[in-house]
Amino acid sequence: MKSGFARVIAVVLFMMAAQVHAGAVDTLQQEYIAAGAGPFSAAKGKEMWIEKHLDAESGKQRNCQSCHTEDLSKPGKHAKTGKVIEPLAPSVNNERLTDIKFINKWFKRNCKWTLGRECTAQEKGDFLEYLRGL
Ligand code: HEC
Repeated sequence: MKSGFARVIAVVLFMMAAQVHAGAVDTLQQEYIAAGAGPFSAAKGKEMWIEKHLDAESGKQRNCQSCHTEDLSKPGKHAKTGKVIEPLAPSVNNERLTDIKFINKWFKRNCKWTLGRECTAQEKGDFLEYLRGL
């Protein structure tokens, strides 16, 4: 009985360690794969990053660069508020792509603002594949 319990604890600890080790991007991409998406492509992510979408209300084109600008190793500027956005590239900003809740929150907002809808699991996986390599 006791050793059985110890084994359960050991397995749980191992799973927790694996989760931490995997990192936010891997964990999210696993979720997307479980939802039927994948494999993910950095090239496709980049293509979608610069793809322009017409906003019917303002008559203006929008893309991910509208706020994050063209060089993701440099700070961006929010298209609406003018607020500075820290660089998105993980190579110059090691806090990037480390927090699942934060990533989910901003995917939701930014996809709606840019594409006029939420992104699919495939699109999010491709975006992350592109961004993680920067
Ligand atoms: C209207 C402005 C705006 C646009 C357009 C925009 N973003 Fe963002 N994005 C932000 C802001 C603001 C934050 C959060 C503040 C910060 O991270 O400094 C953010 C954060 C993020 C993050 C979280 C990064 C992290 O730190 O983990 C991701 C991922 C992201 N954006 C992806 C996208 C994608 C993909 C698009 C295009 C579909 C996009 N963004 C378009 C403003 C924008």
